[in-house]
Amino acid sequence: MVNYKVTVSTGYLAGATTLNNVFIKLVGTDGESERKWLMGIKGASSFMKGMVSCFTVCCPVSIGKLILIELSKQRLPLFPEDNWFPAKVEVQSPEGHTYNFPIYRWIADSEVHRFREGTALRVCDDSHHLGRYSRQQELSQREKDYCWNVYKEGIPHCMKAESPLSLPCEVRFSFTKTTEFIFTAATGLTELQIKGLSSCKKKWNSIDAINRVFCNKRTNISDYVQKHWKEDAFFGYQYLNGVNPILIRRCKALPDNFPVTDDMVFLRGKCSLANEMKKGNIFLCDYKQLDGVKTNTINGKKQYLMAPLVLLHKTPDDELMPIAIQLKQTPAEDNPIFLPTDTEYDWLTAKIFVRSADFNEHQLNVHLLRTHLLAEVFVVSLLRNVPMVHPLYKLLVSHTRYTLQINYLARASLISKTGVFTQFAASGGEGMITLLKRSLSSMTYTSLCIPDDIAERGLEHVPNFYYRDDGLKLWDIIHRFVQGVLSFYHKNDAEVQQNSELQKWISDIFEYGSLSQACTGIPQSFTTVAEMVKFVTMVIFTCSGQHSAVNTGQYDYGGWMPNTPLTLQLPPPTTKGTTSETTMLQTLPDINTTVKGMSTLWLLSKQSSDFVALGQYPEDHFSEKIPLKLIRDFQGELEVFSAVINVRNKSLDVPYTYMDPKVLENSVAI
Ligand code: FE2
Repeated sequence: MVNYKVTVSTGYLAGATTLNNVFIKLVGTDGESERKWLMGIKGASSFMKGMVSCFTVCCPVSIGKLILIELSKQRLPLFPEDNWFPAKVEVQSPEGHTYNFPIYRWIADSEVHRFREGTALRVCDDSHHLGRYSRQQELSQREKDYCWNVYKEGIPHCMKAESPLSLPCEVRFSFTKTTEFIFTAATGLTELQIKGLSSCKKKWNSIDAINRVFCNKRTNISDYVQKHWKEDAFFGYQYLNGVNPILIRRCKALPDNFPVTDDMVFLRGKCSLANEMKKGNIFLCDYKQLDGVKTNTINGKKQYLMAPLVLLHKTPDDELMPIAIQLKQTPAEDNPIFLPTDTEYDWLTAKIFVRSADFNEHQLNVHLLRTHLLAEVFVVSLLRNVPMVHPLYKLLVSHTRYTLQINYLARASLISKTGVFTQFAASGGEGMITLLKRSLSSMTYTSLCIPDDIAERGLEHVPNFYYRDDGLKLWDIIHRFVQGVLSFYHKNDAEVQQNSELQKWISDIFEYGSLSQACTGIPQSFTTVAEMVKFVTMVIFTCSGQHSAVNTGQYDYGGWMPNTPLTLQLPPPTTKGTTSETTMLQTLPDINTTVKGMSTLWLLSKQSSDFVALGQYPEDHFSEKIPLKLIRDFQGELEVFSAVINVRNKSLDVPYTYMDPKVLENSVAI
């Protein structure tokens, strides 16, 4: 007889314990063990949360190289069936070899579940027929568990689910995340001490009244925003380091529909637009996507959403100052170009219309579509097409955590018929779908890859652009890591072309994410190692750094409502000289709209206590030396990068922390 020493680790998660009987079968190249009941000296406590328990499985002769294990559990007569979360199984063979089996899945039934040994295998490496069989079985089950669904025509497809509980267990929120999320959502208004205001349909009668609500929940940055929101330099700064840093671009020629003249923006003879454009000092933010988007009706009143054009100038002291704003796309007598030299309230009102347009553009295009919905496509395609033993699965699975459930919740409680966004944002309702469709049509692969995006927007030399500085460094660090891991498993381009599961992953992303629009530049297949590495880098960057950059600061910049009104309820002035503090207050959203917006932004900016920072991999999916070393190197680089950000931030009035690896999450989880 020969003995196999089996060590079973149960995960350290709430509810991970099983009191059921657990069985294992070892399957090797030369045979298999009996199905063995794992009865150890610890008895019923062997599979408690966090427990590591050892057992011996005897076989008459060696069963050769281990390929997989089969795990199952059975309830005792008087005990209920319970859910078990095994983390991993380690097997020491009589030959002295150690095999690792990563699991990290819930086992809720009494079926047999197969798990592969940890060495990553592409389909062409999977030489044993039992390995290939279990690979096919796994994928055909996953195709049943993860189905595509059309939420609305013209936007990326999503995961089919009737409720959060209908999602497969392994992609659901943990108990900790669920309770915290429900608690924060339920207590948001109470926490902000504004509960009584959520049904008040009145207008604000003073800025001070807004402050009395806002002062209950502040962050250092939201305090700064409240002090500086009217300032031009801060208005410009937000295009670089606020929650929407992806709209601004260098302006080399004025668009035909924005007839700004030198006389409007510069003191006679001082500068010229042509010269400043040549020097790279003029920038444009064009909200043309919002043009003609149907607006909401809130509290029985029609709402207004503009499609502004904003011209900015980089001054000699490195500030980015707005110099002209036109609120509608078509130049006309009743569509004046507002200037900083106009009256205080004309200029401030113009800026408020821009900030409100930015809220709608940011939430739907920048945040929802380009991070949440894309991440969901990456995840569903991965889970349908790539088995656990594949190196791509091992590399990406930690970057998929909670994405399917958070997106389900966003569809159910933010953009559904009764959702907060639908009810209280200017573009809520029909306009939202128009805007999402337009956003997808204009999305390019270039704009998803930050080095290409910055070059394409001509922003390489803009000073004080921390989103770019941190984003580019982060991209490089992720790229080095991905290159290391994926080129370890793909030695040349031919190996990439032949990796059928990888190719199916990208072709589904092209089909269900970009809706087969080749003009987006999103690849339909990979022909080289470099293309694959770049795309996977983009996936990890989008799910971690980019999502954090556009998500984490939502309350910081939007908590003080006048800086980011979710809707406006008067049309913009059609002539100059008609605005006042009173018209501004009448234009801002009602009290209930404001506080609903505040509590939602608070919820969406709040970090969960079971948050996992970028580069932390609590699950050991890899077991080979080289990828394990690459993970350690990646973590080391992220740590140094975090320290560099911290030192830089000490000298800034407004620290830029959204791309600090210590505070950004591995996946789109909020
Ligand atoms: Fe988010």
